[in-house]
Formats: sequence, structure tokens, C-alpha cells
Amino acid sequence: MALAKIVYASMTGNTEEIADIVANKLQELGHDVEVDECTSVDASDFEDADIAIVATYTYGDGDLPDEIVDFYEDLQDLDLSGKIYGVVGSGDTFYDYFCKSVDEFEAQFAITGATKGADSVKVDLAAEDEDIENLEAFAEHISKAVDAL
Ligand SMILES: Cc1cc2nc3c(=O)[nH]c(=O)nc-3n(C[C@H](O)[C@H](O)[C@H](O)COP(=O)(O)O)c2cc1C
Repeated sequence: MALAKIVYASMTGNTEEIADIVANKLQELGHDVEVDECTSVDASDFEDADIAIVATYTYGDGDLPDEIVDFYEDLQDLDLSGKIYGVVGSGDTFYDYFCKSVDEFEAQFAITGATKGADSVKVDLAAEDEDIENLEAFAEHISKAVDAL
């Protein structure tokens, strides 16, 4: 059984809910899952996981949320080869750089040597039915990827 660690940043709750949807699906698929807010953990905690997932919103003008910047910077120093990663997040299509923080984390994970388990899922504000389907499919892809290791 694989251990999935999901780390999230969320100001108004949309991303926390997204993290929970992914967590519930992974649990249903038989994995152990830990969900933590980004200021309560260190990036190096991912070294103990088989699956590393970040869920983040985007702030400012396509910026990372302030509270996840340290976590983001520390991530690039890790060797996560042999692990599966995925990124999900919430943004608002009103802004020029929709869900840019999701792309930033994708790039950062690539540096760690981890293997991408599923394409990122970007949600416009709160997850609706179609988003929930996409998030559950994301979890299924991640699960298959880790089982194939
Ligand atoms: C001041 C401000 C700036 C924002 N900038 C962006 C942005 O550049 N790109 C984007 O996709 N969303 C942006 N958003 C939208 C948030 O990412 C969106 O509301 C998201 O659902 C918040 O997630 P949370 O509920 O987990 O905090 C911005 C929101 C605020 C309040």
C-alpha cells in the first residue's frame, strides 16, 4: 500500500476542498493518505512518501501564495526519484495567469526527478461536478502510476 502526502495552500477553502476530493479517492483506491496545510510541514516530508501531491491556489498577478513559497523553494533541493507526483489547484479565469502556481509546481517537481503520475487539474474557483470527475480521474492515474513502479 502506497503512502500519499498531499500538501495544500488555501485561503478561502476551494483548494482545501480539492485536496480532500483527491485524498478521498486515493483512500478509496486503497492508499494511505495524509493531507497537510503547507505551513505545517516541510518539503522534505515528501521523502517519506510514495506519492507527492501539491494543491495550490494562485494569488497576486500569477504569483504563488506567500505561505507556500518556502515549501516551493525547498522542493527543488530534494531527490524524489522513484516517487510519483501530481499537482492540482484552484484559480480564477478572470485573471491573466490562470492557475499559474500549478504550472510553477509542475516545473519544480520535474527538477526533483520524481515521475509525473497524472496531468495537472486546474479548477475555476470551487470544484463543480465536472471538476470532481477530473480530480477523481487524476487520483486514478496517480494510483495506476504508483502501482506500476
Ligand atoms: C488578490 C487576488 C489575486 C488573484 N490572482 C489570481 C491569479 O493571478 N490567477 C488565478 O488563476 N487566480 C487568481 N486569484 C483567484 C484565486 O486563486 C481563487 O479565488 C482560488 O479559488 C482561491 O483558492 P482558495 O479558496 O483555496 O484560497 C486571485 C485571487 C485574489 C483574491
